[in-house]
Amino acid sequence: MSKPFYEPAARTKNYKYAIRNIVVEAQKIEAQGKKVTYLNIGDPSLYGFQPPEELIEANIKAIRDGYCGYSPSAGILEARIAVADDANRRGIQTTPDDVLFTYGASEAADLVLTALLDAGDEVLVPAPGYPLYTAIATKLGAVEIKYSQNADNNWQPDADELRSKISPRTKALVIINPNNPTGAVYSKETLEAMLNVAREYKLVVIADEVYHKLLFDGKHVPMGSLAGTDLPVITMESLSKNYLAPGWRLGWMTMTNSAVMPDLKAAIRKLADARLCAPMSPQHVIKTAISLPTSYLDAPMKRLREQRDITFESINKIKGMRCNKPEGAFYAMAQVDLENGDLGTDEEFVLGLLREKGVLFVHGSGFGTAPKDGFFRIVFLPNAETLRDVYTRLAEFAAEFREVKSTAEVK
Ligand SMILES: Cc1ncc(COP(=O)(O)O)c(C=O)c1O
Repeated sequence: MSKPFYEPAARTKNYKYAIRNIVVEAQKIEAQGKKVTYLNIGDPSLYGFQPPEELIEANIKAIRDGYCGYSPSAGILEARIAVADDANRRGIQTTPDDVLFTYGASEAADLVLTALLDAGDEVLVPAPGYPLYTAIATKLGAVEIKYSQNADNNWQPDADELRSKISPRTKALVIINPNNPTGAVYSKETLEAMLNVAREYKLVVIADEVYHKLLFDGKHVPMGSLAGTDLPVITMESLSKNYLAPGWRLGWMTMTNSAVMPDLKAAIRKLADARLCAPMSPQHVIKTAISLPTSYLDAPMKRLREQRDITFESINKIKGMRCNKPEGAFYAMAQVDLENGDLGTDEEFVLGLLREKGVLFVHGSGFGTAPKDGFFRIVFLPNAETLRDVYTRLAEFAAEFREVKSTAEVK
């Protein structure tokens, strides 16, 4: 029998990205004339945050100066030198030759996993965790193995559990720090314990640090700074969050100890050649970005801190709800008590909230938690007034949901 016409490839069947997929539901509600408040996507520009003026000027200047062509596949040398210098200052050993610019950190992840994983190979990803890595692994026919982060231990992962998940097919360990969706920042001890597991089993460490400048409390320890001279670490960064410019789509990877993975480095470069290059004009922003005084983040972080505090306090005041205090990024992972699933799933809760109150969050199972556990991710980028209003509507809905579900049960 011949294949049906226009059929998509089987690999797209299980390809999911809840953060955007759920928007379809919100659009249906809007089509009925209802207003929706979107708290599903981590795009600061939607909520009045803008990149620093110096970077906007540098980007415009680059275009006016004629930098509108292709760059070398790895990126322009001046920007690679700036990134390597910055990494070295933060204790990450690397060279300009180990830096490669990409179409956001998203493409960096895609290049590394595509270069590393054959079908059936395994990659360790955090649960809950940003779903990009799961999506790429699915596309490659590779297998994601989830390791947990414990809400009762401030979302820290456990190295022993990590070790217990490893098989001969495990090739990489993804660590997202600061974490999306939990807002957790890992301690040096946690990181060292995880890196020791990677060392023991010869895993490539993929260090997603796209939020490392957005910290409320504590200190960020770059994974690359703990790599010694033997552990291969590939760090992902971008202009998207740390510099508030996600639409410029510029990210980069920085390899530490590339000498122990020369073939992988060559494979990544080969893949990068075929997609030509990352966006050109934002590469001309990098030198300025790296040398900006940290004060460019004072105002955004002041606003984010207030919004974080409102979120933490409001959620913990709602009956049957809790959340840990985020230490970085702009996400909080809240939990509603669904009585072990008797009251429904996290997705049912989130969709009910959307339909009844016009508020859009993303259910925790979109990030790898169990549906019955009742987690959902809040993006606390909207201003204080919007957030207060959202949490009032959330509290009303939580009470109604419990009432309706419990009554249905009794009947
Ligand atoms: C943890 C994490 N990594 C990577 C990305 C993708 O970032 P970029 O815009 O640089 O592709 C995101 C975006 O939300 C993220 O949260």
